[in-house]
Amino acid sequence: MSDKEPRKVLVLTGASRGIGHATVKRFSRAGWRVITCSRQSFDDSCPWPAGPDDHIKVDLADPADVDHAVSEIRQRLKVEGGMLNALVNNAGISPKNSSGNRLDSIETPMPTWMSVFQVNFFAPIMLARGLFNELAAAQGSVVNVTSIAGSRVHPFAGTAYATSKAALASLTREMASDFGPHGIRVNAIAPGEIDTAILSPGTDKLVEQLPLRRLGKTAEVAETIFFLCSEASSYVTGSEIHINGGQHV
Ligand SMILES: NC(=O)c1ccc[n+]([C@@H]2O[C@H](COP(=O)([O-])OP(=O)(O)OC[C@H]3O[C@@H](n4cnc5c(N)ncnc54)[C@H](OP(=O)(O)O)[C@@H]3O)[C@@H](O)[C@H]2O)c1
Repeated sequence: MSDKEPRKVLVLTGASRGIGHATVKRFSRAGWRVITCSRQSFDDSCPWPAGPDDHIKVDLADPADVDHAVSEIRQRLKVEGGMLNALVNNAGISPKNSSGNRLDSIETPMPTWMSVFQVNFFAPIMLARGLFNELAAAQGSVVNVTSIAGSRVHPFAGTAYATSKAALASLTREMASDFGPHGIRVNAIAPGEIDTAILSPGTDKLVEQLPLRRLGKTAEVAETIFFLCSEASSYVTGSEIHINGGQHV
């Protein structure tokens, strides 16, 4: 990035661990300002000097808190001329039952179903709509993180999680259609089994059946997210890219 070019800005949810953490590293390496959002306060052991100033503590399960976060983000974007180059909706939750097994469509309590949809599905559209003007000003890009569980029954992912991700994939198409005329691209990435804390015991058996015979790395997912937010993908919108070692074939 040259000195004359304005610094690009990413708003990223769920930055504190896993795929989100790898995404912060990838974009920071390319010189982007990364505004991170999660429930935890900024971790002081984190090496990014701008971290605490660019971190927003928000509970995406609480719609009022999401609205508050949108106002806070818009405020912080004013120093960048009100421009937002990318929004990555990465935060996601996948609750299990008390024995640690998947919650199916018969036993999922309704409050669980509601909170999963709020975090995994409603928060992404609330953020994208709330930051629409800033995204349009930068001709920016939105990436929604879906899942392989959105397109097939998964042995460990619960029904609320799977249906929220299927809805998010559908929302990605709708948004691509609605946001496209404003110059904003909207895509999704659908990870399979990535080496993070979200994985369940038994995943090793599942991985043995995958064409690539290994877990994915968070850095590999971050690289695809970066591609979708860069000029290299300037004609790509409304896509959902599988990152799963061939699990979908
Ligand atoms: N790992 C996989 O194999 C895999 C596969 C398919 C899809 N995915 C998807 O990829 C995304 C990232 O997964 P991951 O494995 O990296 O997840 P993770 O390690 O469990 O991290 C989840 C992130 O979301 C944040 N988060 C959770 N609830 C939140 C809330 N209510 N408000 C704000 N932030 C919240 C967490 O931060 P705080 O705890 O600080 O709030 C954390 O940073 C998710 O959407 C997941 O569904 C992952």
